[in-house]
Amino acid sequence: MKKNFNYIIGFALLLAWTLSGLANPCNANNNPEKKQNKKQAKQIAKMLSKLSLEDKVGEMTQLTLDMLSVGEPFNLKKPHELDEQKLQEVLVDLKVGSILNCGGHSYTREYWHEIIDRIQEVAKQKESKIPVLYGIDAIHGTNYTRDATLFPQQIALAATWNTNLAESMGRVTAYETRASAIPWNFSPVLDIGRDPRWPRLWETFGEDVLLARRMGTAMIKGYQGDDLADSKSVAATMKHFLGYSITLTGKDRTQAWIPNRYIKEYYQPIFQDAIDAGAASVMINSGEINGIPVHCNPDILQTLLRDEMGFEGVAVTDWEDIKYLHSRHKVAASYKDAIAMSINAGIDLSMVPIDTEYPKLLKELVEEGVVPMSRIDEAVTRILQMKMDLGLFEKTHFDHDEYPDFASEKHRLISLEATREAITLLKNEGNLLPLSKDTPMLLCGPTANSLNYLNGGWTHTWQGADSTFNHQKPTIAEAMKAEFQSVSFVSGAEMKELSNKEAIIEAAKKAKVAVVCLGESTYTEKPGDLDDLDLPAAQKELVKMIAEQGTRIVLVLVEGRPRLVHEIEPLCDAVVMAYLPGNEGAQAISEVLVGKVNPSGKLPFTYPRFANSLLTYDHKHTDRISQTFSLEAFQPQWEFGHGLSYTKFDYGKPSLSSSVLEDNKAITVSVELSNTGEQEGKETVQLFVSDEYASVTPSVKRLRGFEKIGLKKGESKVVEFKISTRDLAFVNKDNEWSIEQGDFTLHIGPHSLPFTYNKSEQQK
Ligand code: BGC
Repeated sequence: MKKNFNYIIGFALLLAWTLSGLANPCNANNNPEKKQNKKQAKQIAKMLSKLSLEDKVGEMTQLTLDMLSVGEPFNLKKPHELDEQKLQEVLVDLKVGSILNCGGHSYTREYWHEIIDRIQEVAKQKESKIPVLYGIDAIHGTNYTRDATLFPQQIALAATWNTNLAESMGRVTAYETRASAIPWNFSPVLDIGRDPRWPRLWETFGEDVLLARRMGTAMIKGYQGDDLADSKSVAATMKHFLGYSITLTGKDRTQAWIPNRYIKEYYQPIFQDAIDAGAASVMINSGEINGIPVHCNPDILQTLLRDEMGFEGVAVTDWEDIKYLHSRHKVAASYKDAIAMSINAGIDLSMVPIDTEYPKLLKELVEEGVVPMSRIDEAVTRILQMKMDLGLFEKTHFDHDEYPDFASEKHRLISLEATREAITLLKNEGNLLPLSKDTPMLLCGPTANSLNYLNGGWTHTWQGADSTFNHQKPTIAEAMKAEFQSVSFVSGAEMKELSNKEAIIEAAKKAKVAVVCLGESTYTEKPGDLDDLDLPAAQKELVKMIAEQGTRIVLVLVEGRPRLVHEIEPLCDAVVMAYLPGNEGAQAISEVLVGKVNPSGKLPFTYPRFANSLLTYDHKHTDRISQTFSLEAFQPQWEFGHGLSYTKFDYGKPSLSSSVLEDNKAITVSVELSNTGEQEGKETVQLFVSDEYASVTPSVKRLRGFEKIGLKKGESKVVEFKISTRDLAFVNKDNEWSIEQGDFTLHIGPHSLPFTYNKSEQQK
């Protein structure tokens, strides 16, 4: 049936629909936890009334720990030896209210306590006695604390499609971060990773909105628990608000051009869910959208974030971003102008983080009437509220005894479980995998013997290249040698250079199977910008050399983004995607290769085949048209959601409770999944829906539901999804959430099923 365009929802109807809570999947006003605690509000107002302007601008300032340490920032005399004079100047004279990170170092939790206890002690010497809010990037576990439990990076966590694991990861990280005396975590990343070139793709939950919404909310729940003041909770930060991940160039912090409609449909919902889940803070996108840097854009910082989305927590800048309005973006003629622009646009706290000019200039701006006192009071109120919510006014020190599970086996097993479920089997020609324990094996490749490469960026140091990383955890080579009986390890190649050519050829001739571990070295942000998405030539050469010897190849990819492998994929019988699996990665990979673990990861992004075809799964119909006008232009290496198992899952034909969807009434889709293979396994059932015709060109399909289930050999289960109109809505040409009457098709496994949406008389 052709869609009747007369039924496009008009504004009045939409309003009515919105009121009924259906129109906008990102309804802002439904979080009871956000109701202000009146008593606290009074306390904060009283506290605020006693603060001087110096106190207030100090509260709005965040400096890096380097600014309190002996030596110069980035060139410390000794890693973070506190400088008593600087402590006085920064915390007492300037009254700076927040400190962050430690960039190039990681410490034992004992040392963290020493540092932070001293900071809090000195902060108490100022008249207001307001405690310091310490923040850190604990993005895959408490990655700046030595021996802490390290998890797979976010993209790998997304590949589990298991929200319970995201929540558990959040719980453990909160526990171990508070055990390090740190109450505020700059995580999760809620940007969607839709461009494989982008160097922070691995910090995201991948390319899909629904997957990122579910995983992000679960992680925030894990971080924040039921009570922020609990000694096992940390405040989460939704970052980077918003549209950070989709630059034109694919390079970090370059220009983005994003239509509002796209922002609303693809970016906003993830942040809206996080707000509704009670996220305590937000970090702002360092980039510019449509020519306006986000840090000085009141349409985004005030109208969208506050007025429309209802966020009440603290908005912190990203690193040095106010200064960059002047020095990089060139929209402010001076640093002082930049401060006025961003504070007036809605920034509460500036991650300055390496100058002491900021609070002085902000004070001047208030005295000159350029920044109104009301804006300052609003920002400081939010910051004090967050400090109060975290219980910092009562207690900033927690004894080690309160954290018996720090770096425990219990925590390690949670991380191991997440890693096992992340590993994604992309190809398994002739069931080469799993391998028997006595397979004569060559193990090689640049990622085969490095714990750093398994963990990636933000591990002990910002770029993750910590050369002192203690090797209590195995590398792939070490884990494989423990798991298999006949492993000959020859490195064979650095990231960009072949080595030991002859040794490789010799070892390949003797081996039955070569496990070749390729991928990327560690990086994040600018240093991770790429000029070429292809895997470096030397790595491809390694595979070709081995293939020439007739050895069967298992390719293991340890990488934060999908580097192109189309040249070598046909030479490999099996391909295992490990992403950046973290400290437990080697064990999980070897368990998958030997068959102790049945892989259940699914790609959270489309793995591209060619650099000029970087389509996501939810591309448009016109993207499918090839040079010959056939509909075959979308030929990724592997599709979003793809991932094989050692067992076999059969999808029954799905059934619908009704083939007609009506307003205010969900329909139920049921599908029976059976494990007809030879072993137990887990499968993520994915529900996609295609809107056949719409006034805004519809995507070929969109993910509208998923559920991961485990099935024993021979077992079957019925999985149910409910679909309502809000699940199918899109943002129309008037920038409003909308659903139009007409035909839809749902897709589950190999099956497709049509249904129709009929608008009620009321909604017409
Ligand atoms: C990154 C943020 C991070 C901040 C503090 C910035 O460079 O973009 O994601 O939270 O540094 O380390």
